[in-house]
Amino acid sequence: MASMQDQDNNKVSRRSFMGGTLGVAAGIGAAGLIGASTITRAQPAGGVPGASASSLPMLFRAEIDVQDCEVEGTIPADLNGAFYRVGPDPQYPLRPGNIPFDGEGHVSMFRICNGRVDYKTRFVKNERWTAQNEAGRILFPMYRNPSLDDPGVRGLSRSTANTHIINHKNLLLCLKEDSPPSAVDLLTLEMIDPVYRFDNQLVSETFTAHPKVDSGTGNMVAFGYEATGFGSRDVIAFEITPQGRKVWEATVQVPYVGMLHDFAVTQNYIVLYVIPMTKDDEQLARGGIHWSWDSTLPTWFGVFRRGGDGSDVQWLQGPTRSATHVMGAFDDNNRIYVDVEMSESNPFPFMPMKDGSNWDPVRGTSYITRLSADLSGRRASGYEIERLSPWTGALPRQDDRYNTMPYRYGFLGTRDINAANPREANAGYVRFDHATGTQVFWNAGPATSLAECCFAPRSPDAAEGDGYLMGVATRQNENGRGDLVILDAQRLQEGPVATVKLPVRAVGQVHGWWVPEGQLPVG
Ligand SMILES: [Fe+2]
Repeated sequence: MASMQDQDNNKVSRRSFMGGTLGVAAGIGAAGLIGASTITRAQPAGGVPGASASSLPMLFRAEIDVQDCEVEGTIPADLNGAFYRVGPDPQYPLRPGNIPFDGEGHVSMFRICNGRVDYKTRFVKNERWTAQNEAGRILFPMYRNPSLDDPGVRGLSRSTANTHIINHKNLLLCLKEDSPPSAVDLLTLEMIDPVYRFDNQLVSETFTAHPKVDSGTGNMVAFGYEATGFGSRDVIAFEITPQGRKVWEATVQVPYVGMLHDFAVTQNYIVLYVIPMTKDDEQLARGGIHWSWDSTLPTWFGVFRRGGDGSDVQWLQGPTRSATHVMGAFDDNNRIYVDVEMSESNPFPFMPMKDGSNWDPVRGTSYITRLSADLSGRRASGYEIERLSPWTGALPRQDDRYNTMPYRYGFLGTRDINAANPREANAGYVRFDHATGTQVFWNAGPATSLAECCFAPRSPDAAEGDGYLMGVATRQNENGRGDLVILDAQRLQEGPVATVKLPVRAVGQVHGWWVPEGQLPVG
């Protein structure tokens, strides 16, 4: 098998490139997959937080259409809509020193309707993809380091659009947190607007990969960091109605420029959680990536009121930790609660340690953890940290209808913590019941990796957690062939009610998003 690390990208020939493509396509592992078989580097017992150094994204590059997929079991009659996924799929082999997060976005869709499933994938053909396609080579060679860009692409969006997707105003927005979204058609996945600025209402130069939908109003609440220029400390938060009208905006400044991958939105507050994955100017000057982990820095839990101008922001200091995703968040007006996956140190093996130390797989393992802060009385100085369970994993989800509200159920891709040999633990999905403090685990079986899961309610007004949990399984013993597994979210332990069997490997995924039938265009 050709190794991407072995290839000098300036010299790689078309022939060897395609050979490498086919080689890695027959292999295993992609960013975000959960499963013992994807890991070759030393890993902690019980889990791997996101991708490992061994899981540089494979070049997939083939856009696929599969009509009426083979299904094992029965697609539930009340499951109609589209399950979208997006992940990095390098258009050309990554340069040495680059990281898996820098592959170009490739969107896939499982269109589920009346028991039938069609599968479609398309690259996000935005400015970056189009320029590189025309040039036949990489023009944006390093993750979030524009100083190395080809002079011919100055002024173009650098967005890979590879991290998350969300539907808004009959569009599918493909998101990368260093740029505005790219908007594609919900049914064809073809490009509509490569740099989507919400009808010129987007003031921030960037747009988060993790907007939230307010449970009460349906408004999209979002933010951008490094919002007023590369490396700026400004964060701009804003709220947009389902019809596309911006109704609120506020600007705050972070204590230092750290990765703000996700944020928390409650009915009354915004929370920004600043972690010591910091912009590293020396590394950038050396031609490296944007971030390194600075273990000397604290975390900052920043809270400010929705509807205000940001001047009320409180920055509560905490110990050095990492948290990059929110399972759920809510407030009771006096106290705010934010459930995250949290590790003690750098969760990404491919992100450099600023002090040159080795990545620590144990301290880099993430657990679902509740952060809370008392906002009543005099100003607080810190926040509290409580680990909620022994299950490990890094991509928590919830019933997204409860994005800003008290919630009961959360979901997480994980590995079997009860396995006799932790290094061979099977992947699975676990459901958290915060009302009872219990967790239910579905074991996906051997030689299977799982992507992040996503919840689809049984109906628009179904009770919280009443519906289906779905995610893509990669079968290691079948050349990485992909299955979409669909489970009853209230009966996870019973296993899939249906398995959609792809004839090929599924394109990689960071995050997925469910759009119910009623929110899809007729087509
Ligand atoms: Fe994310």
